[in-house]
Amino acid sequence: MYPLTDTFTFQAPTNITFGPGAIGQLGQIVAPLGQRPLVVSDPGIAAAGILQQVLDALGPAVAHVETFTEVEPNPSIETVDRAAAIYRRGDGDCLVAVGGGSAMDVAKVVAVLVTHGGGVLDYEGIGKVPGPTVPVVCLPTTAGTGSEVTQFTVITDRGRPFKLTVGSPYVVPTAAVCDPHLTLSMPQPLTAATGMDALTHGIECYINTVTNPLAKTYALEAIRLIGRYLRTAYATGKHLEARYHMLLASTMAAMAFTRTRLGNVHAMSHPLGARFDVPHGVANAVLLPYVMEWNLIAGMETYPQIGEALGEPVMGLPPREAAAAAVEAVRQLAADVGIPERLRDLGVTRDAIPALADDAMKSGNVLVNPRLTRREDIVHLFERAF
Ligand SMILES: [Fe+2]
Repeated sequence: MYPLTDTFTFQAPTNITFGPGAIGQLGQIVAPLGQRPLVVSDPGIAAAGILQQVLDALGPAVAHVETFTEVEPNPSIETVDRAAAIYRRGDGDCLVAVGGGSAMDVAKVVAVLVTHGGGVLDYEGIGKVPGPTVPVVCLPTTAGTGSEVTQFTVITDRGRPFKLTVGSPYVVPTAAVCDPHLTLSMPQPLTAATGMDALTHGIECYINTVTNPLAKTYALEAIRLIGRYLRTAYATGKHLEARYHMLLASTMAAMAFTRTRLGNVHAMSHPLGARFDVPHGVANAVLLPYVMEWNLIAGMETYPQIGEALGEPVMGLPPREAAAAAVEAVRQLAADVGIPERLRDLGVTRDAIPALADDAMKSGNVLVNPRLTRREDIVHLFERAF
């Protein structure tokens, strides 16, 4: 429950165009924003033919297009720098990102660098970007990150190694073109990992200490849609109805969390990405049931609602059992879509836990977790999940 005395603000400034075939409107959406876009993507998107669809949709509407397709999972500062160099060499005036969170985050940070100068580290943290950037238009090809509507980007500093955040209202993309057709070719592991990332966004936003009633509405509906459609999207792949609702859920969950932040799952998953290159969604999916179990005593009001949204018959159950049903529903969903049960299954080593805990404690997400969290709690949670 949120305190009635709190004042909250809610902004969803990204212009969203959503639906099967939405990519057909890309040219008319980009043209007023810029005539020399840099398209940022990754090798998988290029190989799947999606990049070509984007170029075909853009071509007639703009004067010149450059492409950068070298974005890797957990993208690095060096990748951002290389993309920014190509933007400058091509005399770009806007960015188009096509891909998952990695491609979108790279494009969003490139927009900061080419507008305001300096390097990625100059903008590390929240609120360091001094003003608006060149326009960014995002086309998500996964249903998870929601980066197409958020004020956050995550870039890996391989030197430390650490996943840093560049967060600012000026990083929110100008427009999002969400076409579920672009998500149809996702392989099963990616469908599972990104879908569980979106579920984590919904749940962490719904239960954290700075949520608000509008954010909770988006978050709960996202949770409901994921509970209903993730298994189908995973099991049958090219199921447009399931893909449509998963993409809707991921965008809604991100609209919910972009101003409210998340919780311990995201605080803990970023170091796993930085130190062991674990995909973001997989790390979240493994951690989520353990963190939910630990947070349960702070979720006696919120967990039953989550359980109900996930289809659990919680009516009439004693409060603790109703809350526990939410944890069990999440554990079962993760298992059904092939998520491993433990961090050791992902190549994580136990001796890294102290360093992982130190890094997790640097995240602002710990501060909004519903249950007060100290470093030893994070160590305990990593041990449990190990
Ligand atoms: Fe996430």
